[in-house]
Amino acid sequence: MSSYSIHSTPGDTAWFRHDRFGMFIHWGLYSMPARHEWIKSYEKISEEKYEKYFRYFDPDLYDAREWARQAKAAGMKYAVMTTKHHEGFCMFDSQYTDYKCTNTPAGRDLVREYVDAFRAEGLRVGFYYSLIDWHHLDFTIDQIHPRRDDPDAQQQNQGRDMNRYAEYMRNQVTELLTNYGKIDILWFDFSYDKAPGTPDWMQGKGKDDWQAQQLIDTARRLQPGIIIDNRTQLEQDLWTPEQYQMRRWPRHPETGELVTWEACQTFSGSWGYYRDEMTWKSPEMLVQMLVNTVALGGNLLMNVGPTSRGYLDSRAQKALEVYADWMKYNSRSIYGCTMAEPEWLALCPNGCKMTQSEDGKRLYIHLFEYPYQYLELDGFAGKVDYMQFLHDGSELLYDEGEVQHFSEGHTRNPGLLAVKLPVVKPNVIVPVIEVFLK
Ligand code: GLC
Repeated sequence: MSSYSIHSTPGDTAWFRHDRFGMFIHWGLYSMPARHEWIKSYEKISEEKYEKYFRYFDPDLYDAREWARQAKAAGMKYAVMTTKHHEGFCMFDSQYTDYKCTNTPAGRDLVREYVDAFRAEGLRVGFYYSLIDWHHLDFTIDQIHPRRDDPDAQQQNQGRDMNRYAEYMRNQVTELLTNYGKIDILWFDFSYDKAPGTPDWMQGKGKDDWQAQQLIDTARRLQPGIIIDNRTQLEQDLWTPEQYQMRRWPRHPETGELVTWEACQTFSGSWGYYRDEMTWKSPEMLVQMLVNTVALGGNLLMNVGPTSRGYLDSRAQKALEVYADWMKYNSRSIYGCTMAEPEWLALCPNGCKMTQSEDGKRLYIHLFEYPYQYLELDGFAGKVDYMQFLHDGSELLYDEGEVQHFSEGHTRNPGLLAVKLPVVKPNVIVPVIEVFLK
């Protein structure tokens, strides 16, 4: 069994650490301007102008079953969809606001269709819920609010009551965790400090503004096993590094224990659909990102930003197909795997990444660089029972102790195990060697 002891979590995270790979879905009115989900703040768009997106939002091509099929094929085992993003628009039929999808030409509860479709495909479902709300009249104007530079911004805050807003959030979280069956993940986003140089009356917002403990208590009362992230400023189940490749398994700041963590990343440079954004990650980077994350005991939540018409554009579909092609044959090195034990990590060759099955019996060597003819594994001799390429289950032969190449003296090493590799790299973005340990 894995020797890594993990900081205990209030929620049920055992399935989560097994399943490793999920789909993030950022979908809202911001899919119409199609230039980032923060567009209302970036361009300080007026309510009147933003209202047009509300008036014309009509995802006539929305087919949640198609999204779910693509997520499942990509090897994703769970999904987290935005129920409300910073713009404040609700993708579900909330009784606490009129600013919701059922009042747009969409005319239906889009979250309901997401939940039903993904469950039908056997995936677990989570909700992203923004703590920030640039539409709600009790949410005070601050350094990131679209109205921040209005001449009367400070006066607009008169009468705004964050206590009322915190109650609104509790009411909506109650709706979300009552009306849609079992929800596996609740993903709050996000707390922020006061920015340097902003006027004194503008403040960041954190756990006290959200009344975070009450919010979390509400969620856990309704769904006791639910997994909750750390962005209310109260550490819960998940650490959530974003758009960042961790280089070590994060540890709890107080206890020093390893934590349950999930990296969230985008295919391109935006969470919401961004038509003209071109920094789409290469197929190699997508696969290596997943392997790098699991190799450090983490999960990857990879994001899609659907169009306002309700479908995933061709670029997102191609990226999902990269995962589908690789995971179809190599998911055994991901599901139920974690960081390799220290004694194996110490032997990991350059250009490779290791994962290990939770039961410790199988080691997976991911060839990020493909060596010529041999992969030399120092320290492996005598410890391996069998080896194969994971993608096609073809045996890999190996020499132990030395490699015959007319200068054996230079490579004779009792601990050496040299795997014989085909000169031509298999047609796999990242070939994986499955090692059955003795
Ligand atoms: C950041 C972005 C937000 C996005 C989130 C995803 O908080 O501001 O738009 O939803 O990351 O983790």
